[in-house]
Amino acid sequence: MPFIPARFPRYNGYVLSAFATLRNDLSGQLENIRTLESRDSDILICTYPKSGTHWINEIISMMVKGRAEYANVHKIAAMLEAIPNFEVLQNVPESSVRILNSHLSLKELPSKHIKNGYKIVHVIRNPKDVAVSYYNHLFQISRRISDEEALVYPGSWSMFIEHFCRSDEELYNGWFNYETALERAKETGEVTNIFTTHYEQLKRDPFPVLKALAEFLGVEASDELLNDINHKCSFEQMSTVGDIGRGNDSLKSATGRNIMFRKGQIGDWKNWFTVAQNEAFDSLIETNMKDSKLKFTFE
Ligand code: A3P
Repeated sequence: MPFIPARFPRYNGYVLSAFATLRNDLSGQLENIRTLESRDSDILICTYPKSGTHWINEIISMMVKGRAEYANVHKIAAMLEAIPNFEVLQNVPESSVRILNSHLSLKELPSKHIKNGYKIVHVIRNPKDVAVSYYNHLFQISRRISDEEALVYPGSWSMFIEHFCRSDEELYNGWFNYETALERAKETGEVTNIFTTHYEQLKRDPFPVLKALAEFLGVEASDELLNDINHKCSFEQMSTVGDIGRGNDSLKSATGRNIMFRKGQIGDWKNWFTVAQNEAFDSLIETNMKDSKLKFTFE
């Protein structure tokens, strides 16, 4: 893959984010994750990158708190592959719910969590918008030349989309592998206690999703609270008013744009894919999803 430098950690043939934790001690970090002493109160957010992780993390955090107040800790602090010190996690009082998140595949996740059927929240987004969002994310990071991650150059859009989901060396094992593996695990019962929502569903008609999510999490949430959460977690609010949207410099591109909150729309892929790229991608979807029951909203 031309746009992924050699220093990106590779595991089982796939490419992970270039977090210092993974670059410094890949096998140690993965071992710490797999053997995490999970608790039955843990909530694990599982997403392929760029599927709305920050969004669902904020929603869940507000639901667990019972108040529509932004989290004062950024979600990366509880991202398993980026946690520098697992003792911090173990020292969280038993009375507090730990809201964890990861883009890793099922077999790399904490095995106790999976085996014991602790709660998983999964957000899935149509792969065309994921590709566009991922490209922009990598591109913006590559612009921050003072940052040590500056070499993450994704090349041109046409180069990126040519390789996205086609290479053996895919980012986080590739969108198709990630989503179809989770779908299979649900069917076989390997994963039992999982709430899946589509990004597009949450965007179009959030209230029923929020209601069902609160029920899944077992939290008391009045309609008034859910409406407040919905408002505070709208793209407009999160990207400008929320703590992550407002102040965190590590999320700013070189031009001051927020890398995590770009457009927050369904169907932006239409501004990026050429007709030929779209046709090629459609046939990729057809081939890779031929055994899948998943249906997507692309616009
Ligand atoms: P875009 O790049 O298409 O704008 P993640 O958090 O997994 O990295 O996903 C980031 C994507 O989710 C970005 O997509 C971002 O704008 C979008 N997003 C974040 N918060 C959102 C919100 N409140 N509503 C809708 N989309 C949101």
